[in-house]
Amino acid sequence: MTQTAVALSTDARAAIAEALNQSVAETAVTTMLAQNFHWNVKGMAFGPLHDLFQKMYEDHFVAQDDLAERIRALDEHAEGTLSGMLARSKVKEHDGHASDKEMIKMMQDAQETLAATLAGAGQVAAEAGDTLTEDLCIARGQEHEKFAWFLRAHLA
Ligand SMILES: [Fe+2]
Repeated sequence: MTQTAVALSTDARAAIAEALNQSVAETAVTTMLAQNFHWNVKGMAFGPLHDLFQKMYEDHFVAQDDLAERIRALDEHAEGTLSGMLARSKVKEHDGHASDKEMIKMMQDAQETLAATLAGAGQVAAEAGDTLTEDLCIARGQEHEKFAWFLRAHLA
């Protein structure tokens, strides 16, 4: 049955918030990774890659806020520390010393990880009947799969 935030059980809200906090953490780590690569990328494709990484971190910065605010709309706690996000995130930081192709591959992997995490978070929401959270997760997952395609196309 479809449920809005106020109708969800305490357990359902906690499970959804946990999945969303995972999504926020990975989105935030990927935001920093994209800005890192935006700064440090080199090579003949500097211009387009510099711009593409910027599009990603701008998109992700807005997304992490949307996801965290959905946690608050569910009356749960949004984790707001970098250390906590790093501990949870399956996307890892990088020191930024890498070739352009290595950066593209790392970012493709990060985007695919995020798409999978958001698909899973959407499933957690769906099982609780929380279609509003599910919709947000689906939209975000689609965006990350689009970025994964943009990156994959560079390596074809
Ligand atoms: Fe810049």
